[in-house]
Amino acid sequence: MALLEIRNLHLYMRSFEGDAHVLNGIDLTLERGRIHGLVGETGCGKSLTGLSISRLVPSPPARYAAGSIRFDGRDLMEASEAEMRALRGRRIGMIFQDPTTNLNPAFRVGEQMIDVALHAGQVDSGILGLGPDASRAERRAAACRLVVEMLGKVGIRDAAARVDDYPHQFSGGMRQRVLIAMALIGRPDLLIADEPTTALDVTVQAQILRLIRDLVDEFQLGVLLITHNLGVVAQVCSQVSVMYAGSTVEDGPTRAVFRAPRHPYTKALLAALPREGLARGELKGLAGSVPSLLTPPRGCRFAPRCVHAIDTCRERRPIAEEIQAGHTVACLRAAEPVA
Ligand SMILES: Nc1ncnc2c1ncn2[C@@H]1O[C@H](COP(=O)(O)OP(=O)(O)OP(=O)(O)O)[C@@H](O)[C@H]1O
Ligand SMILES: [Mg+2]
Repeated sequence: MALLEIRNLHLYMRSFEGDAHVLNGIDLTLERGRIHGLVGETGCGKSLTGLSISRLVPSPPARYAAGSIRFDGRDLMEASEAEMRALRGRRIGMIFQDPTTNLNPAFRVGEQMIDVALHAGQVDSGILGLGPDASRAERRAAACRLVVEMLGKVGIRDAAARVDDYPHQFSGGMRQRVLIAMALIGRPDLLIADEPTTALDVTVQAQILRLIRDLVDEFQLGVLLITHNLGVVAQVCSQVSVMYAGSTVEDGPTRAVFRAPRHPYTKALLAALPREGLARGELKGLAGSVPSLLTPPRGCRFAPRCVHAIDTCRERRPIAEEIQAGHTVACLRAAEPVA
């Protein structure tokens, strides 16, 4: 059984101008021990997909119209808020894109992490290595030990002393390590990391990616890595889903998708990457812009920008089809030998 299975997820977002159809049929399967990349242009719904898994999109304004999200066989759309809270503290770890929801500048890093550890310990006392009738003081001491251990694991040197520091005393890369440690305290099975390296320079980015890869090996985690950086996906993700305007347009093993992309949008994204040998300023951009999600095109949402679009594309929504083992494409013309 897959660790995470999203099928045909549809989400509407109410706004002053009307209902925006922000997720329009998301399909994704994530296995344990794998890093699955989720890519696409800004506004295509990557963060909303991540937040939907932990059911953190406030509703209203959000409304789930269809679909299922199965986590370890259990449908999260049916779960109660209490069940979701227990899952979030323990089995699903998250690193958010929005920095204001991350570390609180007013509290010591250790304190913030101990709170998370105590919460995880409430859900599952085994996390702290204690029995259910441990005293408050014992739980706090165990939480503190766990925090130091986790900080050590993510490469924070002298962790026992650093727990008393405030977030501003850490560099950007160190703060990101702290956030990863925090997300892993409950020993989750699934880690959702939304743009975890975007704000970092390339060397620190490489360190953080290596760290995530090592942690996956150590804990057999499944990671959903949300990024707009195709280079990051190529480096660490075994699988990738490409999103466009709220839909998964192509999905499969990273190597297959990047070597032989079949959806015109994936092709355009890859062609837009700067390459060696390309003259300065010569970048094959993607013409046009993402459609309005309030009045999306009736057929394929990419059709208005697609050089291969035919009339049917503008009328019929393409259904994802498997063109090779594990490689699916939602394009009416995917089966045709187009360039
Ligand atoms: N709370 C909200 N209310 C209304 N619309 C929203 C809300 N949150 C997101 N949206 C809209 O939903 C769409 C998808 O947003 P989302 O944040 O998931 O994009 P993203 O792919 O993560 O983009 P980025 O790469 O910029 O992080 C966008 O058009 C956005 O404007
Ligand atoms: Mg986002």
